[in-house]
Amino acid sequence: MTESEFILKDGFEYPNEGKVAWKAPSNIALVKYWGKKPNQIPANPSISFTLNACATTTSLAFKKLDKKSDTFSFDLFFEGKPKEEFAPKIITFFERIERYIPFLKEYHFIIETSNSFPHSSGIASSASGMAALALCLLSIEKLANPTLGEDYLKMKASFLARLGSGSACRSIEGDLIQWGAYEPISKSSDLYGIRYPFKVDSVFKNYHDTILLVHKGQKTVSSTVGHDLMHEHPFAQQRFQQADHNLNKLKEVFEKGNLNEFVNIVESEALTLHAMMMTSLPYFVLMKPNTLEIINRIWAFRKKSKTHVCFTLDAGANVHVLYPESEKKEVFQFIQDELVAFCENGHYICDRIGHGAKQLKG
Ligand code: DP6
Repeated sequence: MTESEFILKDGFEYPNEGKVAWKAPSNIALVKYWGKKPNQIPANPSISFTLNACATTTSLAFKKLDKKSDTFSFDLFFEGKPKEEFAPKIITFFERIERYIPFLKEYHFIIETSNSFPHSSGIASSASGMAALALCLLSIEKLANPTLGEDYLKMKASFLARLGSGSACRSIEGDLIQWGAYEPISKSSDLYGIRYPFKVDSVFKNYHDTILLVHKGQKTVSSTVGHDLMHEHPFAQQRFQQADHNLNKLKEVFEKGNLNEFVNIVESEALTLHAMMMTSLPYFVLMKPNTLEIINRIWAFRKKSKTHVCFTLDAGANVHVLYPESEKKEVFQFIQDELVAFCENGHYICDRIGHGAKQLKG
């Protein structure tokens, strides 16, 4: 699909009012998106596990205005309370998608949103949040044009979500989502995420992700700033090639269920992401001492137990501990015995691979 195929056609009758709602999951990248071109085009392809427990629920009530407004008209509630701070992000998102959702200025919207994870957990809600909002808008489009197919709607939702936050385009479907043009996958695109099309061994079908909340405060540097710093980065080109290369290596790993190699690739990606932050100008460090402590303990335990527990990191201090279902008991015991002590207030979230967004109303 090309960008112009996402532009709405004229001639449909839009409802006067109504309400739609979606729950969209978060996702955790295995090969990281870090660096972008204009219009939210990724500098390299990425792939992620869709999560299950970490999700955003958003309802969108809409009412036609008497006449089309010059500005976007909406009220925003986060966890039941008005949330002015989120408005600029929504306005930027609406500006970016207006070309594809031209009815935006014809309505007054009431956006009510909440996260399944605690607000100040340091977990980014932009992926699940933008995905849920994009899906709500698509549900309105579908009310006007019921002939739109499921596949097109998912693709367009991913396309729109990407314009809100890049990684959000991987939060529409499950369970393994690839985003970014990448030659060996003919249907891959810079514009939206797709379900990973190659064979995936069943060991990856019910993977666990226990998220250790090492630092729940605001990050000192936003992802958007971090992406930007890749423009002048001395290692940028090598990094983008490495992402391609790692995605390529994962093909056989997924097909054969090769957990040792999975661990190598996933941990290398996480550390490379942070290495990029540490070697950009200005440089910055998002890991905390406890992040490193946890990593070292995972390595020691893996060696001792011969399990395949591994970690990955977001652009923050929290640690995602990944492990297969068959090792759940042993690894979870280890997490409780040795790792929870390094979490802020002992907090962590038990998540696992999930199957994508769900419509709740509309
Ligand atoms: C480290 O999607 O949050 O989580 O497009 O600027 O909103 P924007 O960035 P964002 O970046 C996510 C970066 C990452 C890696 C990843 O999810 O692939």
